[in-house]
Amino acid sequence: MKYYLITGGAGFIGSNFVKFMLKKYQDVHVVILDNLTYAGNLGTLKNELKDPRCTFVKGDICDQEVVKKIFSGYPIRYVVNFAAESHVDRSIENPQLFLQTNILGTQNLLDVAKKNWTTGKDEKGYPAYLDGVKYLQVSTDEVYGSLGETGYFTETTPLDPRSPYSASKTGADLIVVAYSETYKMPVNITRCSNNYGPYHFPEKLIPLIIKNILEGKKLPVYGDGTNVRDWLYVEDHCKAIDLVLHKGRTGEVYNVGGHNEKQNIQIVRLTIETVRRLLKENPEYRSACRGEVNSSEKKTPDNIDDWMNDSLITYVTDRLGHDQRYAIDPAKITKELAWSPETKFEDGIVKTIRWYLENQDWVNEVTSGDYQKYYEEMYGSR
Ligand code: NAD
Ligand code: TYD
Repeated sequence: MKYYLITGGAGFIGSNFVKFMLKKYQDVHVVILDNLTYAGNLGTLKNELKDPRCTFVKGDICDQEVVKKIFSGYPIRYVVNFAAESHVDRSIENPQLFLQTNILGTQNLLDVAKKNWTTGKDEKGYPAYLDGVKYLQVSTDEVYGSLGETGYFTETTPLDPRSPYSASKTGADLIVVAYSETYKMPVNITRCSNNYGPYHFPEKLIPLIIKNILEGKKLPVYGDGTNVRDWLYVEDHCKAIDLVLHKGRTGEVYNVGGHNEKQNIQIVRLTIETVRRLLKENPEYRSACRGEVNSSEKKTPDNIDDWMNDSLITYVTDRLGHDQRYAIDPAKITKELAWSPETKFEDGIVKTIRWYLENQDWVNEVTSGDYQKYYEEMYGSR
């Protein structure tokens, strides 16, 4: 049995990774550490938590005692750190929490892992490590800053973060590099582009737009909608992490993503069109469409062409410091590990929308807490 510590495993990408690993490998035991912020939901893991190969620990990655206890309870050989405050808009409102979790939490995980994995010293005085251990930091392409109309992020692009979120992720990356250089700790960093897919919390663009379309609400597009993101289907990302963890060269950074660049406005238009088509073609999805609930006008699946169209789009005040374009060059991971993104955006978006149409209970569950308050605060005055 191989023991993995997966932090942030109740969030979007972490939970997809837990599902992916339990399905792909028989001989894994996954210990999930997550303190269940608004973005973490145990409902997402309800099947996995019945699996004896999965253990959930509610706790903070900044808490040294909790992390130490996990290492003394389980022979952890891999750490994959997904836990983070992950939303740029929230980081603009409250930067400090981002620095706390994303930077100090990362350092705490590295420190406890290092102590538990060290077996002695080599001839130069560096720590020697157990065979086969690795720490993988899940980072983001946002650490590279913003691109103009052309060019791509490679692993050697200078770090140039612009938002409190990306600055905190950059800080975390630099701490990981410091542990690699100073203590020769076996690490990798992956820097992925924008993920999309099942279990994505509806504060991020795609799930928020799907939710609003189904409720007949306005679709808030920041600025002029021309900002570009390079969309990565979450399962493709999970495959990349698995590869880097087991086959990546120690100490290396790998960019993950590529070839799925879209302007936000294109995404919004395509999403409206796809939701409308799927609702028309599949009568069983009609109950997901609750347009009439939030409107005095009758917005039902019966008169869908009248209202589920581009008239829902509303251009709102731009995000402060909004990065214009992200785009990944995945040449390194493709060449070294034979990974490339398999899911074209046009296919992935249909799979994703179908998932949301079929999982409205999940959406209702995760948005039943403070979501309404958040939405009013974030969009009410825009
Ligand atoms: P998410 O916000 O959906 O999930 C984060 C998870 O971490 C949640 O379950 C939350 O409860 C948990 N968490 C937060 N603070 C914690 C703490 N102090 N201790 C323990 N758990 C804590 O995020 P995501 O979209 O799944 O992103 C996962 C990782 O991938 C993050 O590190 C993020 O920076 C990175 N990333 C995400 C994207 C994307 O498009 N979503 C793109 C690039 C990189
Ligand atoms: P988001 O999903 O927040 O991811 P990130 O900021 O990490 O790229 O946003 C994706 C893009 O969509 C980004 O350019 C901001 C934009 N956006 C909107 O136009 N409206 C929205 O309501 C949200 C949440 C994002």
